[in-house]
Amino acid sequence: MKLAVVGGGSTYTPELIDGFARLRDTLPIEELVLIDPSADRLELVGGLARRIFAKLGHPGRITTTSDLDAGVEGADAVLLQLRVGGQAARNQDETWPLECGCVGQETTGAGGLAKALRTVPVVLDIAERVRRTNPDAWIIDFTNPVGIVTRALLEAGHKAVGLCNVAIGFQRKFAALLDVAPSEVFLDHVGLNHLTWELGVRLGGPEGENLLPKLLSEHGTAVAEDLHMPREIVDRLGVVPSYYLRYYYQHDAVVRELREKPSRASEVAAMEKQLLEMYGDPTLDEKPELLAKRGGAFYSEAAVDLAASLLRGGGSPVQVVNTYNNGTLPFLPDNAVIEVQAKVGTTGAVPLAVPELDPLYAGLIANVTAYEDLALQAAVHGGRDRVFKALLSHPLIGQYEYAEALTDQLIAHNREHLAWA
Ligand code: G6P
Ligand code: MN
Repeated sequence: MKLAVVGGGSTYTPELIDGFARLRDTLPIEELVLIDPSADRLELVGGLARRIFAKLGHPGRITTTSDLDAGVEGADAVLLQLRVGGQAARNQDETWPLECGCVGQETTGAGGLAKALRTVPVVLDIAERVRRTNPDAWIIDFTNPVGIVTRALLEAGHKAVGLCNVAIGFQRKFAALLDVAPSEVFLDHVGLNHLTWELGVRLGGPEGENLLPKLLSEHGTAVAEDLHMPREIVDRLGVVPSYYLRYYYQHDAVVRELREKPSRASEVAAMEKQLLEMYGDPTLDEKPELLAKRGGAFYSEAAVDLAASLLRGGGSPVQVVNTYNNGTLPFLPDNAVIEVQAKVGTTGAVPLAVPELDPLYAGLIANVTAYEDLALQAAVHGGRDRVFKALLSHPLIGQYEYAEALTDQLIAHNREHLAWA
């Protein structure tokens, strides 16, 4: 089995390698290709990746290249984990929206739209090149904004599934609180990428007993602390929102907070510098502790599970993924991309049925789906007016004057990445 990782020079890659090495029985990789435009990063990250494989006795071969076409040749699956414009572009996404009193975040609100506009054309080009050499390969998308990018891939007819680590994070957290193995925990996880709620927590299978009320009564404070939200919010809802819902439920407070502290991008950039220095140390042969400070913890386990199911039907039969709605949430178009539990196998992902949703969640999901639709149109076709309409449709923006000002800012800060601007 051959896997290719586009964005393989990411400082996150050792997390992925560690998962591949530990879970090699689930996913027996013979060859892993790290693809990245930066030769320097490939050398540092590739070196550590080989040392991790060697230490954990993984027999697979790890190669590196900046040549995408050569790298993906013969790959059974291609993982996308790239970041167009790097942390510098992210830093802007997190900064200029604050001037209008709007949240500055890499996937939510105006910053998320900027990221989508930079990213979708690049990802579609990569996917097209993968399809040319490798029409049967699966594309696993970790690249944010995952909902919009996955929808772009699916609409262009690619064999793609989108993935995020939020669900696997809750699965591990709840398993620890309930003192069971993570694989025992099934989540009634519903919504769109970075806009989800855990409506139930079940043991043993998706039909198991719902332990969420018990979990919240016994561990509500620990759960809320992890979300950086007051416990009252969780108690009032009676379900567990993802921490991205903070940008909605506490928007103005978050804006005040973001205005006062350094951006997450600048923190991450400092961590990346430190990580790359560590990766250059030839005695380092495991993923460093520092990596746990990144938001993507455990994404390797989600990736292994999904790749194992798509390539050989060997992963968990039910996983939380991003895929076409196809009637699952009846108030959304079939071609909306939702993030829910799905049956995953070699023919792809099919969402499990979801009971009727409370309008409290359905309303926001429908609104953000409409935004994602307009965002995708702006990303694919370009143009100031499409950017403006996507911003106007977003529930955290919504006002004409904000949408106008943010459109100008977005274009001014991203001109070098937007072919049409
Ligand atoms: C979470 C999200 C990812 C996101 C990451 C950011 O894991 O699910 O989609 O990329 O956080 O983490 P960072 O350490 O870059 O802030
Ligand atoms: Mn995510």
